[in-house]
Amino acid sequence: MIDSTPRRLLLLAHYADGEDARHFSLRIEQPLAADNNVVPGQFFMLSLPGIGESPFTYLTPPDAEGRFNALVRRTGKLTGALFEQPTGAILGYRGPFGRGWPLFFCSSRILLVAGGCGLAPLAGVIDEAYRHKLPAQLRVVYGARHSEAQVLGRERARWRQQLPFIETLDHARPGQRQGTPLAYFDEVFAEQAPDALLCCGPEPLMLASAEACLQRGLSANKIWISLERRMHCADGLCGHCYLGTSYVCQEGPTYRYDRYLALLGDRPPSAETHYRFC
Ligand SMILES: Cc1cc2nc3c(=O)[nH]c(=O)nc-3n(C[C@H](O)[C@H](O)[C@H](O)COP(=O)(O)OP(=O)(O)OC[C@H]3O[C@@H](n4cnc5c(N)ncnc54)[C@H](O)[C@@H]3O)c2cc1C
Ligand code: FES
Repeated sequence: MIDSTPRRLLLLAHYADGEDARHFSLRIEQPLAADNNVVPGQFFMLSLPGIGESPFTYLTPPDAEGRFNALVRRTGKLTGALFEQPTGAILGYRGPFGRGWPLFFCSSRILLVAGGCGLAPLAGVIDEAYRHKLPAQLRVVYGARHSEAQVLGRERARWRQQLPFIETLDHARPGQRQGTPLAYFDEVFAEQAPDALLCCGPEPLMLASAEACLQRGLSANKIWISLERRMHCADGLCGHCYLGTSYVCQEGPTYRYDRYLALLGDRPPSAETHYRFC
């Protein structure tokens, strides 16, 4: 039987990190083995007693003491209440859930494209590449509406020193790169054609990025996106997160693009739906 009882989660600290976004440090009071095996891109359910429960991505995976970080954008009831919680507050935790990004650093040149808060689910991929001393394999293009809307200020300052990191703004000031991430694909592909794309952000950005990469010769089985769906149980029981015949909480939130298209019924399903290609 699935145990859906939340475990205790301690709020260690939080600070403002972009417009309507806060950076949270949290600690699972009694971490389990699964908490130490989190893959970037997986998610957890955070609950506030009397208010509700919502899914969030791990910004950093839990360490041996259960400490991890998350970036939260204020959108409504639960996130609004979370922003008001004091240090030391006890929250609820369930997880980890879903499947993370494929981590295929051995031979691939990977393009990461993020929009807005979509940088958070990709943060672990960047840090993991750096940990394996392979940041040269990565190119990041991060888009936001304007500079105040950019998130992960401390991490971006560090990443700019570690790897090619292009930041684009829909409303740029002089000296900043104007436009969406797509406006820089020609430059990125001319410099180093990627073998794979991992993309997270608003769905229109992800779909446009995937199609732009297809047009430049990348095949759909080398493209990954991360979907955001309404989640209730996160255990494959309630069906709130359906994408065609797939439960996003179980098979997602990351999907290989050919699998995603097949689920939409757009293109023929690939015979091979297994992930890791390295
Ligand atoms: C796998 C996954 C990972 C996520 N990771 C993060 C994260 O790292 N950081 C972060 O800030 N947010 C993340 N989200 C989104 C986050 O779960 C929602 O913003 C949150 O549930 C909103 O709760 P609320 O009670 O504050 O807002 P509500 O009052 O429930 O809703 C406010 C508004 O947001 C819309 N909304 C809420 N949830 C969703 C959703 N899942 N999809 C589309 N629209 C929605 C509602 O329709 C409404 O318009 C993630 C979602 C998923 C599915
Ligand atoms: S959230 Fe209930 S089945 Fe996915």
